[in-house]
Amino acid sequence: MIVVTGATGNVGAHVVKELADAGAEVRALTRDPRAARFPDGVEAARTEDLPLDGASALFLNPAVVWQLGADKLLERAKESGLRRVVMLSSSSVLDDTDPQANPIGALHRGLEEQVRQSGLEWTHIRPGAFAANALDWADQIKAGDVVYGAYAGAHMAPIHEADMGAVAARALLTDDLLGQTPELTGPESLTFADQVRVIGEVIGRPLRYEEIPAEVAREKMVGGFMTPDVADSLLRVFAKMVGRPQAISPEVERITGRPGRTFAQWVADHADAFS
Ligand SMILES: NC(=O)c1ccc[n+]([C@@H]2O[C@H](COP(=O)([O-])OP(=O)(O)OC[C@H]3O[C@@H](n4cnc5c(N)ncnc54)[C@H](OP(=O)(O)O)[C@@H]3O)[C@@H](O)[C@H]2O)c1
Repeated sequence: MIVVTGATGNVGAHVVKELADAGAEVRALTRDPRAARFPDGVEAARTEDLPLDGASALFLNPAVVWQLGADKLLERAKESGLRRVVMLSSSSVLDDTDPQANPIGALHRGLEEQVRQSGLEWTHIRPGAFAANALDWADQIKAGDVVYGAYAGAHMAPIHEADMGAVAARALLTDDLLGQTPELTGPESLTFADQVRVIGEVIGRPLRYEEIPAEVAREKMVGGFMTPDVADSLLRVFAKMVGRPQAISPEVERITGRPGRTFAQWVADHADAFS
């Protein structure tokens, strides 16, 4: 039995699907099991109950762990006899820098360390920017042809959540990635302006990105998980990425055997969100 936290989320839903397609027994955690829709045969359970009995491996999404408490979760994991944790970490974590350069790296590094020190088998998957971050623009795109944001020329290589799901499933189902920290990117470096243009091309509208000052963008970003510290840190990172194409990681193709999905593919898979 493999337990997936954040199972209704961007990455978790694909982890669940990959595991179910591979014939694994899956327990998918959500705050509302009655509302969630999972593939046939997948058991739905409540996140807060931490139902780990009988499980051999756990997919750990920090979005859920920050709420539950990592100590409690890892203690429960060890008591239950679970052997392996595959954690969704972040490429913000720097191995050769301590303390970490930014709060996002520090948060993920801290959790990675707790998992490592638990004595359980581990894989830390370290993606860069999710293609799904573009969903933050959905309201602006539904309302008009312009997306307002900071640093139009900031580069990143957005990764499709299905590719992260495939890598995580490999780490859960085989020993191939034990003790590894694969850094994942999408297959192409795109600026924010490029991403908005691609969304327009795929949905058939002349969309454009209009740069606004970072201080104005910050006001719109802050809220929920996006604390002022994290927003400032992200804006500093974006500022550094202007005009600097991102290096593309070979890991998705190495691990899954197929090239990473393009951003245009991601938009096509989520076109409904923008119309
Ligand atoms: N965005 C990026 O560019 C990026 C880059 C690198 C790493 N990451 C990592 O990826 C994580 C996000 O992954 P994701 O996009 O797959 O997650 P997500 O879709 O935002 O959330 C996953 C699930 O977590 C549950 N959840 C949300 N808030 C919760 C709360 N307060 N308490 C308990 N459960 C909660 C929700 O499920 P239910 O409603 O069904 O309970 C949600 O579907 C980040 O936190 C970060 O660690 C992100």
